[in-house]
Amino acid sequence: ASTLGASAAEKGRYFGTAIAAGRMSDSTYIGIANREFNMITAENEMKWDATEPNQNSFSYSRGDQIANWARSNGKQVRGHALLWHAQMPGWAQNLSGSALRNAAINHVTKVATYYRGKIHSWDVVNEAFADDGRGSRRDSSLQRTGNDWIEAAFRAARAADPGAKLCYNDYNTDGINAKSTGIYNMVRDFKSRGVPIDCVGFQAHLGTSMPGDFQANLQRFADLGVDVQITELDIQQGGNQANMYAAVTNACLAVARCNGITVWGVRDSDSWRTGANPLLFDSSGNKKAAYTSVLNALNAG
Ligand code: G3I
Repeated sequence: ASTLGASAAEKGRYFGTAIAAGRMSDSTYIGIANREFNMITAENEMKWDATEPNQNSFSYSRGDQIANWARSNGKQVRGHALLWHAQMPGWAQNLSGSALRNAAINHVTKVATYYRGKIHSWDVVNEAFADDGRGSRRDSSLQRTGNDWIEAAFRAARAADPGAKLCYNDYNTDGINAKSTGIYNMVRDFKSRGVPIDCVGFQAHLGTSMPGDFQANLQRFADLGVDVQITELDIQQGGNQANMYAAVTNACLAVARCNGITVWGVRDSDSWRTGANPLLFDSSGNKKAAYTSVLNALNAG
């Protein structure tokens, strides 16, 4: 096929992007997004600070702007993210202990209930592991409510929206390393105890090289009985950007339980990584070599 989404669909997968509500009136931006992608993540609009700016007072207008555009254009939606230590609203930053724990679970329940039936996959918990080389949990106010806060969040999400796949999502998990192994051990434990987890998201914010065991890492998670998804892909320009994009695409295609790939923005100028030019379209909206490389990988074989 001739677009990323249609080509991925022929392989039983999706190809997505992150959308920012503030850019949707840019016709070049929204035109590319509509043409190329069939899975949409709100870059910021479904996060805790956006959806619950005051405690138990919810605000869905910007998330809905993205979700409704996606759904009315035949695209599915990845929900991002129910709980994350960053982008917590100020009121929640001022809570701790059981007050925070109750507020967090209430947030999961309310937001997942609001979007019930409309979300392909939810990032229920984002970035809860540390980069300490030991595979530990990240220290955060949420973690200090008890080590079981992650499973409590997954149980609340399942009760609120039984149809959504429930994912754990993180970065620096691109190969077999201490952090990805810490997450692997958590997922294995969850599966053995019946904690409802369906998928693991690998953000894949990559520099100019990638681990040789990228695919093997995806596969070891899949072998635990969860789906895997590439959720926030972007790759620094200046190295082997096009080849690395193909390698990530081929790794997903080689893992039966890899559902799809999402790139974290449309054009280089839309990226959070200023100056990295890490996306598939240049700042004018032209297809880059990396685009062609992904499309060819999706259409091969
Ligand atoms: O919208 C306000 C604007 O009104 C204000 O004038 C401006 C001044 O600072 O800030 C704007 O908000 C910014 C928002 O992006 C929208 O542009 C925030 O400051 C800024 O912090 C926020 O950054 C986002 C970042 O998450 C926050 O941590 C990025 O857009 C977003 O791409 C990034 O995405 C994260 C994923 O959610 C999780 N994984 C890592 C990834 C990259 O950091």
